[in-house]
Amino acid sequence: MIEQLHQVASIIASARNLVAFTGSGISAESGIPTFRDPGGLWDRYDPDKLGSDGVATLGKITEEGRAFFREMVDTLERARPNPGHLALAELERMGILSSVITQNIDNLHWEAGNTTVIEVHGNLYRLRCLTCGRTFKLKKGEDLPAMVQRLAEINEQDSLELAQLMPKCRCGGMTRFDVVHFGEPVQDFPQAEHAAQTCGVMLAVGTSGVVTPAALLPGYAKGAGAKVIEINATGSYFPQIADFSIVEKAGEALPRIVAAVREILG
Ligand code: APR
Repeated sequence: MIEQLHQVASIIASARNLVAFTGSGISAESGIPTFRDPGGLWDRYDPDKLGSDGVATLGKITEEGRAFFREMVDTLERARPNPGHLALAELERMGILSSVITQNIDNLHWEAGNTTVIEVHGNLYRLRCLTCGRTFKLKKGEDLPAMVQRLAEINEQDSLELAQLMPKCRCGGMTRFDVVHFGEPVQDFPQAEHAAQTCGVMLAVGTSGVVTPAALLPGYAKGAGAKVIEINATGSYFPQIADFSIVEKAGEALPRIVAAVREILG
């Protein structure tokens, strides 16, 4: 393990252009449940019952979607970046990491301090106008809890009132959460693909690699000649692709790797 960690650290220390690709596992130590671990979100909610546009416009929210939305808001509002997120931000400050591609909608890579975060599944703290496409940031600690509160007070059937929950754009259009639901196109994928195909090293952290097209990205990196380093608490999910597989929690492995990189660089 120590030997492997030093091998990984020396690869990262000399990386031409490191890209991180993250899934819900990197946010698990921030208290946000993953999707497919035992007891995870998809053990408790049926994604198909989250409605065609899921919780996006609330106006069409199903009971399942309502409960899912409440739980997501509750855990995201309490979540803060953990040492795994902070280690990736440190690698950017060291000039080694160029971007984070994330499947997560929890805003934690931005809060940790990364400045180039490609959110292929969107961000729950961002609204998008259904008419003009303009996006708006939501304030953590204020906007989402207020929406959950108002949602609780509205009569289930009154979909017009539910739709009013979503703030209006200044163009007059209705807004929706800027998150990607099953069956909807992912966001910024050409940017993610380019980052994967031009990186020298990809760190794949905390993802089961089952949802495409995002899960194709480590293969694109590998195909373009990058070294792929996987960090996952329960095993390797990219056995054919990963050059190194570190089976450890991200919040423990990443800070140790960054400390070893700092030692190598002096
Ligand atoms: N550190 C590292 N890895 C972890 C940790 C941890 N502390 N905790 C869990 N993991 C690993 C699990 O072993 C699992 O392989 O993180 C992975 C999480 O996998 P999923 O729950 O499938 O989440 P993810 O890969 O992000 O799912 C991708 O599926 O439902 C959609 O939109 C959703 O973005 C999500 C996508």
